[in-house]
Amino acid sequence: MPDPKRAQLPILEQLRARIEGRTAKIGVVGLGYVGLPLALLFSEQRFPITGFDIDAGKVGALNSGGSYIYRIPATEIAAARAAGFSATSDYTQVAAMDAILICVPTPLNEYREPDLSYIRATAEAVAPHLRAGQIVILESTTYPGTTEEVLALILDARNPGGLKAARGDEDPSATFMVAFSPEREDPGNDTVARRDIPKVVGGLSRSASEIAGALYRSIFNRVVPVSSPAAAEMTKLLENIYRCVNIALVNELKLLCLRMGIDIWEVIQAASTKPFGFHAFYPGPGLGGHCIPVDPFYLSWKAKEFDFHTRFIELAGEVNSAMPYHVVSSVASALNQSKKALNGSRVLVLGVAYKRDIDDLRESPSLTIIEELQRQGAAVAYNDPYFATVGQGRKYNLQMTRTPLDNLAQFDCVLIVTDHSDYDYRRIVEESQLVVDTRNATKGILSKKIVHC
Ligand SMILES: NC(=O)c1ccc[n+]([C@@H]2O[C@H](COP(=O)([O-])OP(=O)(O)OC[C@H]3O[C@@H](n4cnc5c(N)ncnc54)[C@H](O)[C@@H]3O)[C@@H](O)[C@H]2O)c1
Repeated sequence: MPDPKRAQLPILEQLRARIEGRTAKIGVVGLGYVGLPLALLFSEQRFPITGFDIDAGKVGALNSGGSYIYRIPATEIAAARAAGFSATSDYTQVAAMDAILICVPTPLNEYREPDLSYIRATAEAVAPHLRAGQIVILESTTYPGTTEEVLALILDARNPGGLKAARGDEDPSATFMVAFSPEREDPGNDTVARRDIPKVVGGLSRSASEIAGALYRSIFNRVVPVSSPAAAEMTKLLENIYRCVNIALVNELKLLCLRMGIDIWEVIQAASTKPFGFHAFYPGPGLGGHCIPVDPFYLSWKAKEFDFHTRFIELAGEVNSAMPYHVVSSVASALNQSKKALNGSRVLVLGVAYKRDIDDLRESPSLTIIEELQRQGAAVAYNDPYFATVGQGRKYNLQMTRTPLDNLAQFDCVLIVTDHSDYDYRRIVEESQLVVDTRNATKGILSKKIVHC
């Protein structure tokens, strides 16, 4: 029975009351690395959650209580299912939602330009089912302006009721609300609980900021309001560009240190003792993941519209994307020391995930390294506890099966690309002929077989 007192409340007050009472219905669109954990957080707080995904395999797995993300155990999905969580590909269910949170991919296309096709497709699928008083929040990383210029415009144009996104203090019964709130998760980083990561929120209207803030306050300990969706979009990009540029800086300094015979890792450790003004970043075999190699180029693309060149981003991209090739030449020169050519040598790549202890190989430098080693004639095998096979992706087609670590001596070189903590590095060094280490994973092990690169 609807509460008659509540039914008389203005539409926004009703929504606020449903959020406070944990009865607001929340739809999460895109149940990947970002969307699924977000849906589970709301579910833990007893909100009724519906997950939307176009991938029928994921929908089926979730509805039968299974998980397809390594760090999310099936027990968590089963608990959410018991609390009412369900997944669907049927967008008509959007009409029943109070809030729709969009977590779809934002990759680059083959010309390294923003590919907003997933956001557009989602907006077009949501629009026919929009109701007055709903809030739509974009969480996907993107350039400033996307929420207002792309998402809101499609929703405005395609909803059958002629509703408009609230931009000021319009009558809430003729509008829906739109906001942007970036996802700031760091996969594999267990040092900060998800709810302790402050949530930045920028609404297209005051009502959108307030409702989005109220919604996120129920699962995050701190909400940081900013003045607009564009400011929130730019905040996320600043964070990722900061990482990208600083990683490029240490990668470049590593190359110099290698030439000068200085251990960059020792230097970073010493610099980190400064109690202020220094934040440690670490060199590696190249950038990976859906975010750091991709997001900065969303901004450099948008900047061109303003006749502006983002030189730091371009330079960082140049330095970071050269790192996998540096790794391959380091393997060639390490083999050369033993009078061996890369062409014809057997190389075992340890780790295909883009970083330690995660099951994500998107944009992983290992993929470029394997392809380049093969191109130069090496016979390449790989091992990764998180991947039994490596097939085909947007930019690679490797079709490889994991090689066990039971006969390391057969390889001319073992190349550490991802420093998973499952590996016993001391044993790996003992049993291998030659180890090339891109991550300082062999720190503390003294052996002439180790080459740092
Ligand atoms: N992975 C991260 O660590 C991370 C961190 C912060 C921000 N982000 C950002 O979050 C966004 C999502 O990233 P992700 O890693 O979760 O991607 P993902 O590929 O793991 O998941 C995206 C999901 O969206 C689904 N999808 C695609 N189009 C759809 C549509 N039209 N309707 C419904 N579902 C659809 C896909 O099937 C997939 O399950 C990206 O913008 C990314 O940059 C990711």
